[in-house]
This record gives sequence, structure tokens and C-alpha cells, in this order.
Amino acid sequence: TVARIGIYGLGTMGSALALNMAEHGIDVAISNREVPRINAFMDASGDLSKRLHPHETLAGFVAGLEVPRLVLFMIPSGDAMDEMITRIAPLLDHGDMIIDAGNADFHATRRRAADLARQKLHFVGMGVSGGEQGARHGPSMMVGGSDHSWQQLAPVLSSIAARFRGDPCVALLGPDGAGHFVKTVHNGIEYADMQLIAELHSLLRYGMAWTPPEVADLFTVWNDGPLQSYLVGITANILRASDPDTGHPMIDVIKDSAGQKGTGRWTVIEALCLGQSATMIEAAVAARSWSSEKDTRQTAETVLGGARLGVSLSAETLADAFLAARILAHAQGFRLLSEASDHYDWQLDLARIAEIWRAGCIIRSALLDDIAAAFHDTPKHGELILAPVIAERLGHAIPALRETVAAAVHAGHAVPALSAALAWYDSMRQGFGTANIIQAQRDVFGRHGFQRLGQSGVHHGPWWD
Ligand code: 6PG
Repeated sequence: TVARIGIYGLGTMGSALALNMAEHGIDVAISNREVPRINAFMDASGDLSKRLHPHETLAGFVAGLEVPRLVLFMIPSGDAMDEMITRIAPLLDHGDMIIDAGNADFHATRRRAADLARQKLHFVGMGVSGGEQGARHGPSMMVGGSDHSWQQLAPVLSSIAARFRGDPCVALLGPDGAGHFVKTVHNGIEYADMQLIAELHSLLRYGMAWTPPEVADLFTVWNDGPLQSYLVGITANILRASDPDTGHPMIDVIKDSAGQKGTGRWTVIEALCLGQSATMIEAAVAARSWSSEKDTRQTAETVLGGARLGVSLSAETLADAFLAARILAHAQGFRLLSEASDHYDWQLDLARIAEIWRAGCIIRSALLDDIAAAFHDTPKHGELILAPVIAERLGHAIPALRETVAAAVHAGHAVPALSAALAWYDSMRQGFGTANIIQAQRDVFGRHGFQRLGQSGVHHGPWWD
């Protein structure tokens, strides 16, 4: 059998995608750098193995594909991807397509797309979200490439994607790096949302002395209303789990030092490069970085003293604070998408991005359906905080965010993402901000000049007379 598509890389995500395709009746050629993994995967595939066609060599893998060929790589996206492109490109013909489905830096995707276009090969950078379960049973996929590539890929991807009310959570979002950029920002929002949940958990546990099952029950209630989300749901389950070895709540035996592979950091870096600032995402990245300084923090707690109990906040207040902050994290993410879209001329459809994040991906939530609707109703300028429905919800929820941040700060609890949310919100609703002082200072020490209100041109102050 000639296969419709090839998947190279049988790690967790590649294997799950291959099984998902096989289950949808698609013949898939598979290969992997380490050959024993191929056989192990085939052995574990059960009935689905009849749709899976294993190849030990790259040449065999390529020869086993329908023409034009679709070759999907699910491998580490740095040097390994470049190396595989170098190896496989000579085996391909004009019009064939390489798809990088890993978490790639979109700059690399742009470079690879341009290089391969010179060799008359199509290159697609595709963000895949949803972890192993998503890849196996329905991920959200963010595609960057040409219309031509999309036409070839869409039938396969639409059949394996997650669905929200029947709508497949996959779309062509723009050319070359657009899909990987959108996936990067998805992950940035993911970092911020995870950090918000972590801060709320910490306040409840160490500011208000709730037990893990009590927090789990609250999150379960939240997961049945406007705060419904995949991350809230899994956190409720996490908080109910016990350590089989000690019987303690599982959460209390996990070391408080977080890993990070880089997509959150990339989001912050790209925001800064585009003259933006996604401060909630930065707070989340920073919190992970500080979390790895465990020894210093332990010493500092004994020297400087830690946070204290005695925080008093109602569950309703915390819910509204979370909702406000979650909206603001998304607002920062979409603002960045809008800025990048202008800069790279991608013409990103923000409503469509929100739509394909409604199922399958890690940040899927009830809020994303409201965000999609808001972007359909208002001009697509990326300013979510100005969309009438969103502005109204913020107006209702912001007092709770203020109360929560104030109570946390008062008792010494670190809430970097919650407080970044509030600082950004307050900055953005300030018609006259703080930068007149900055401009005057710059003029004094560097003669940088400033604009005068209501006048054109560059002006200087009377400082040097
Ligand atoms: C997803 C996830 C997935 C992965 C990231 C985050 O959308 O399915 O974002 O891509 O979990 O790599 O990893 P880090 O937290 O290690 O940066």
C-alpha cells in the first residue's frame, strides 16, 4: 500500500498522531531514528497496525508515500529538524511537502520555508496542542503554510482534529511561521493560566488553610461555570490524588521547581521585540525561573520570614479575580498576535484562532467561546479589553481582582501573575499615564526631545537655560 502521509518520529506525540490517523482510516507510513522503537510501536498498535506501514530506512519511508508526498516530522525542533531536512530533501520531488509539527521557533520555520521553497518543496510549520491525549483523540492544530499546502493537508487534519460543536479545531492561519507563532502564544497563555491557578491554589492553601480536597471541590465547582477549562479540571483531579507511597496528598510531595522548554520565554521575547509586553506571561515565566532557586528560597524564608495565614477572601471573590485575570492574559496574548500579524503581514484571523482553541488544546475553556464571539462582533484590532462583552465582564470582575491582590500582598503572598494582570489593566485604562515624566527625564539627560500635547514636531524643555 502507498500511504497517504508519513510520520517520522515515534515519540509520545508522533505515535499518538499516527494512531489517530490510522483510526480515521488513513494509511500512514511511519519511521523513527531508533529502529527498535518502530517495531515496539507496531506491536502495541493492535488492530490499527493494518493502517500503519513501518519503514526502517528513510529511502523506504519516502518510497512508501503517495505523490505528492506529505512528510510530517514530530521530532525535537532545533538542530534535529535541520538535520532531517538535509537528509530527506534530496529524496523528495518538486511539489512534495515537509511538515514540522513540533514546538518550533517560528523564526526557524520562516527560514526553513524559504530554503525549501528554493528547492521547490513545500514546508508547513504546524503547532499541535493537546498533549498525548489530544494528539491521540483530537488535537487543536495551528497551520502555517501556503494555500496549496493547506488544500492537500486539510482533509487529513480535519478528520483527526478535535471538534467544537462539529467544527474541526484546525485552520490555516497564515504563511510560513504563522502557525508556530500562534502555537507559541498559545503556550504563553498556557503558562499564564497555569500560574494563575497555582497562585490561587497557594492562597487558598497557605493564606486560608484550605486542604487539597477542599480546593479540589472549589475547582470542580468552577469547572461547571464560566471558569470551565481543561486546566481547572485537571488541577481538581491532581488535588484529589494521594501519594501511593506515603498516603499524603500527591501535590504535597511534588518539589516546587517547575520545568520549561522555552515556548513561554519565546512568547515574552517576541512580545518585547515587537514593542509589546505580555507581562502576565512574563510573570509566569519568571515564577518558573524563581521556582528553580529552591535552596535560596528556603534560606530566605528563614532569614526574611515567609507569608502568613489570615487571608480572608470569599470563593466568589476568588472566582471573579480568576476570571478577570484569565481574560487579561488572553487579551495580552491576542494583542501580541495582532501586532505580529501586522509586522509579518500574516493577516491572522483572531476570531478563527479563538475558535480552534475551543477544543483539543491545553488552554481550551468556556472563555474562548466568548472571545471568539467578541472578535466576530468587533473590529479585528486585537484589543480584547475594548470588546463590549469583554469590557462588561471585566468591569464586573475587576473589583474582586483588586481585593484578591490586595489581600495577598498584605499577607506577603507572591501573586506575580494576578498582580501583573491588575497593573496592566490599570495602565491600559489610564488616558493620561506616567510617561510625561519619563520623556522629560530623557530630554534632560540625553536631549532626546518629546512631543507636546496638541502640537507637532519634536520639542525640548527649558532645563538647560
Ligand atoms: C500543548 C503543550 C505542549 C507542551 C509544551 C509546554 O499545547 O500541548 O503546550 O506543547 O506541554 O511543550 O512545555 P513546557 O511547560 O515544558 O514549556
